[in-house]
Amino acid sequence: MIKRVEPSGIIEDLLDAATEAMMDAYCPYSKFSVGAVILTSRNNIYRGANIENLAYGSTICAERSAICHANAHGERDYLYVAIIAKNGSSSSIEVVAPCGACRQMLYEFAKLSERDTKIIMSNTKRSKVVMASINELLPLGSGSPELAKL
Ligand code: THU
Repeated sequence: MIKRVEPSGIIEDLLDAATEAMMDAYCPYSKFSVGAVILTSRNNIYRGANIENLAYGSTICAERSAICHANAHGERDYLYVAIIAKNGSSSSIEVVAPCGACRQMLYEFAKLSERDTKIIMSNTKRSKVVMASINELLPLGSGSPELAKL
């Protein structure tokens, strides 16, 4: 279930880190900055931001950027992923949920580590913070053993 949460404690810390990560977005084409952070089972935080390119299809989302960052340090077991985004220089937007490609990558590592990673999504004002697990965001994801049973 996707539910609203109060940003406090670890959630607030992760949103602070995601806001910092968002500053590194390279998004001259969309002007849509996204920051993502991953808290791993070893209690490390890995940041990522979206990186665009003139060859649009080469763009990498903040979430997958953070996954590559964590993987470069040998970490694939994720407790939380926090995502924050803004449109242009000032305006806040509604919460942004990970795209299908990012969900699939998160799903595979969640299966690998047998953990249903929690995804926190917030607007920049933090007036709306929602949380859902990766299995809730991607039910019957590709590679799911449940599919084989049908
Ligand atoms: N983007 C992300 O980084 N994460 C998301 O969850 C949604 C989209 C990026 C990709 C592109 O650089 C920009 O946002 C506009 O789509």
